[in-house]
Amino acid sequence: MFEDFISIHDLSVYEFSQIMDMTENIKARPQRYRSKLKDKVLAMIFQKPSLRTRMTFEVGMLQLGGEAVYLSPSDIQMGKRENPYDVGKNMERWVDGIMIRTFAHQEVIDLAGAAKVPVINALTDLLHPCQAMADFFTLKEKHKNLTSLKLAYVGDGNNVCHSLLFAAAKAGCQISVATPSGFEPDPEIVKQAEEDATETGAGFFLTNDPSQAVEGADAVYTDVWASMGQEEQEKERAKIFASFQVNRELMAKAKPDALFMHCLPAHRGEEVTDEVIDSPQSVVFDQAENRLHVQKIIMLLLMEKKQK
Ligand code: CP
Ligand code: NVA
Repeated sequence: MFEDFISIHDLSVYEFSQIMDMTENIKARPQRYRSKLKDKVLAMIFQKPSLRTRMTFEVGMLQLGGEAVYLSPSDIQMGKRENPYDVGKNMERWVDGIMIRTFAHQEVIDLAGAAKVPVINALTDLLHPCQAMADFFTLKEKHKNLTSLKLAYVGDGNNVCHSLLFAAAKAGCQISVATPSGFEPDPEIVKQAEEDATETGAGFFLTNDPSQAVEGADAVYTDVWASMGQEEQEKERAKIFASFQVNRELMAKAKPDALFMHCLPAHRGEEVTDEVIDSPQSVVFDQAENRLHVQKIIMLLLMEKKQK
């Protein structure tokens, strides 16, 4: 059983599908879980901004009978005012779990290595595992059978793309990724996901051609072209990524009923048009809702027991 939730790569195929099944249950019967984390406290460390992640972790803890403490980017100033090891050694004395959103992925690994309490990765520059779990739960709700599914990701080979690759590998589905040249997913992540895929029969296809990636897809996913921390590259990236916009023409190359997915926040008119994100095929708010349900299960699995 996993002791922290840092990467979907660390989950077994069984654990991945267990989280999917348990999420279905908690979403249908939330009242059964309302005191499961009574008297437990989650610390939420944010080194970057957030709407969905903050709301869903905080509301999730409240719905489970526990509490959450929010620490803004100006509080800890991890790596500047205090290192991850010392933060972990302090935190473990006060709380039952730590959620962290930061820049360097290594900080999450160091924090988890130091703290006796479970650590949950709520986004780093490398990964966004809670998002991909909610996304695959959404796909399962809509499609039932993940193994027969083809997901197309169009845009930057970023944290969200990396976690989708890992989730696809555990789910056993087909995923195609179209990025501009030079913005492909990290080869080390692709290699690890391919290793995971040998167990499930998942398939990967990387291309620089969005049309090729979305051809026959059941779902088309995109994310912002410049992630948090890359704001100064926004203008330059807008030019490079212009032909990767998910618009009506591109969606027409996927299956007629293909879903549109986005982790949000979206830059409407850039990576996706209003017409697509507001269409009946768009499930972006289902994805956002499902962050709550899936993270409640992740917190339960990690925090119900005492310590690591
Ligand atoms: N999708 C997501 O993580 O949203 P926030 O950045 O608002 O938390
Ligand atoms: N790739 C985006 C995801 C935001 C939820 C970012 O890191 O800013």
